[in-house]
Parts: sequence; C-alpha cells; structure tokens
Amino acid sequence: MKVLLAGGAGYIGSHTAVQLLRAGHEVVIVDDFSNSSPEAIRRVEELGGKKVVSYEADVKDKEKVRQIFRENDIDCVIHFAGLKAVGESVRLPLKYYRNNIDTTLTLLECMEEAGCTRFVFSSSATVYGEENDPPYVETMKRGSCSNPYGWTKVMMEEILEDAAKANPKLTVILLRYFNPIGAHESGRIGEDPQGIPNNLMPYIAQVAVGRRDHLTVFGGDYPTPDGTCLRDYIHVMDLADGHVKAVEYAENHRGVEIFNLGTGTPYSVLDIIKAFESATGVKVKYEIGPRRAGDLPKFWADSAKAQKVLGWKTKRSLEDMCRDTWKWQKNNPMGYGK
Ligand code: NAD
Ligand code: WQD
Repeated sequence: MKVLLAGGAGYIGSHTAVQLLRAGHEVVIVDDFSNSSPEAIRRVEELGGKKVVSYEADVKDKEKVRQIFRENDIDCVIHFAGLKAVGESVRLPLKYYRNNIDTTLTLLECMEEAGCTRFVFSSSATVYGEENDPPYVETMKRGSCSNPYGWTKVMMEEILEDAAKANPKLTVILLRYFNPIGAHESGRIGEDPQGIPNNLMPYIAQVAVGRRDHLTVFGGDYPTPDGTCLRDYIHVMDLADGHVKAVEYAENHRGVEIFNLGTGTPYSVLDIIKAFESATGVKVKYEIGPRRAGDLPKFWADSAKAQKVLGWKTKRSLEDMCRDTWKWQKNNPMGYGK
C-alpha cells in the first residue's frame, strides 16, 4: 500500500516509516519540521532500504495537502502531525486546538475529495481520563482530561467517529498509545525533544549523557508500591509494528475500531531509573520532588484486543527500551541537531 504519514518525520512517525518500508509498503511523508528534522527522513531511507517521497508543508494547508493527494495515489493516511506537550497546551490552548483539530479536518476533507478511505489516528491513553480505573479497556467511555492536549484527542476521536458514521466507506482506526520510549535498535533514529524534555525517558537519557544535572521525580507519595507513578511503557518499535498491522487491517475492514497499544505491564518511575542504570551501567542522579499537576497515579493497558484482532504482540523488554534509548542518546548527544 502507499501510506501517507502526516508528521512522519517525528518520533513515532519515523520509526513507523521504517517498519512500513521493511514490510514492503510505500511511504509518503508530509511534515513541517516544527518538531523534527529532515535528517530523520534521510535516516529512515537508510534503515528502510528505500526512498521516501517527502513534502515540507503544514498539514493545515489544504491546497498543499490536495496537491499531495493529486501527485500520489494514497491508499491510507496515518495522522501523527499533532502538538503533544501537555504543559504547553495549558498555556497555549488555542494553538493546540487549531493545530490538532485543523490538521485532522484538512486530511479528512482532502481524503474525501481524493477517494481515499483509510485513516489511522495517533490517539492516546489520555482519553480514558480520570474516571476509569486501570487496566484501560477499549470499551470504556472516554473520560475527562486535565489539559487541552488531552481534550484535542478526545475531540478528534469524536470527529472521526462521526465522519465514519456519515460515510460507510470510511475506515478509521484509533490507536491509543500508552508511553512510547526507546529507539530503533541501530541508534540512528530516536526521540529528539526540543528544549527541556517533558517526558521521563528523554529526561533520564539527557541526565545520563550529561546535558542535565539531575532528574526530578514528580512525587514520591502516590498510592503505589514505591510511591511513584505507574505507567505502561512501550518500545517505539513495537508501537511501529502496531501501525503496520493497523494499516494492513484497514485494507479489509470498514467502520471504526479502537486499539490500545501498550504492553499491559506497569512500571514505576523508580523502576525505570533502575532499569536504565542496569541496562546501560550509567548512574542517573535524581531527587524526589513535588507532584506534577495533572499526573494520574497509575494507568496501563489491557492489550488483549490488539493481540486478538490485529495479531500484534509486543516483543521488546524494558531492558531493550533502556538500551536502545541509550544507544540513540550516546551516538547523538544533541539529537539530529549536531
Ligand atoms: P513528534 O512531535 O515527534 O511528531 C509529530 C510530528 O508532526 C513532528 O515531526 C512535527 O514536526 C509534525 N507536525 C506537527 N504539526 C504539524 C503540522 N501542522 N503540519 C505538518 N507537520 C506537523 O511526536 P510523536 O511523539 O511522534 O507523536 C506523534 C503523535 O502521537 C502525536 O499526535 C501525539 O499526540 C501522539 N501521541 C504521542 C505520544 C508520545 O508519548 N510520544 C503518546 C500518545 C500519543
Ligand atoms: C511518566 C512518569 C511523571 C518527567 C504523557 C502525556 C500522555 C502521553 C504520554 C501523549 C510520570 C514522571 C516525568 C520527569 C518524572 N502523551 N516524570 N520526572 O505523563 O505518563 O504521559 O506522555 O499523548 O498524554 O500526558 O508521561 O513521560 O511525562 O511521565 O518523575 O522529569 O514520569 O510524573 O509519572 P505521562 P511522562
């Protein structure tokens, strides 16, 4: 299939692009590089062993997106092109609503014009909100989010469900990611956050490589076994494999399907620090600080549906996640920048 990856130069998109190429699919990428680098696409081609057609464009630019559909016979779209910094979304909600929702609408409208009927969406465990208890199952109702970023995901899921209801030819796959970490095992591509990392693993990696002095663990008094929050960390390459399965599933199915992409195993912040130290032999300096506003004490996935319906199963361990993160960080201390 020919798959358009909106936001395909980013962290999850670039790893997915490699796995799609290796599975024999063709890849077209559109990205404005607002949170990524063209160098990622060059390395995707190197790892995937094939060329990628790429466009530098804003996915809100309808004329440009139309042109991409005109120039390429796209079978399926994967929409990664979102802004994702939770704290920034609280400060700049309109930027988040405009970007995340407008990109989705633009893609849907251009797909309709071009007769493209398969849409895979980067959703998030955040849509389960505060009301649901883990493990999260796809049949649970969407909950309330503590920030505009999360609400954009809830709203886009609703928009996509409505679009599929109105157009019986449309296939929509909502992939709810848990906490993606790790990097391609080659260390050539990985997560390259701009500025101070918001997420745990890139922060740990930057402390380990000497870019940051220490990690602050956000809260040590949660109702969990060691007092720190529990999350479902998933290797980004397992997540990428989940996209390949979803794209192939979309070829023969209609309507909306939701899949959790997580391992089903929760780890605490302190577990992650210990696992990183033991996988890499590098000490991670940390101190316990206050809780971060909006953090839930614990959540993880019930991943049975993706296993059963997609035939997808995670293969990589926490040790793999830590080792591959470190390989990427050590070989590219300044990310794609230097
Ligand atoms: P990322 O920032 O690395 O990738 C997103 C890519 O989209 C970037 O390359 C960015 O330049 C591009 N982009 C953003 N807005 C654009 C626009 N208007 N036009 C063109 N390109 C645009 O993020 P990621 O971690 O790869 O996440 C991909 C998707 O998965 C996002 O929608 C994110 O919300 C979602 N998600 C991520 C996580 C996570 O922890 N990383 C978890 C759940 C869901
Ligand atoms: C993990 C754990 C922190 C940084 C976020 C989004 C979610 C999804 C994935 C997109 C938490 C702790 C972190 C640090 C810390 N993204 N932590 N010190 O918050 O589970 O999920 O990314 O959809 O929507 O909310 O991920 O990596 O930020 O945090 O102690 O410097 O690490 O408190 O317990 P989170 P995270």
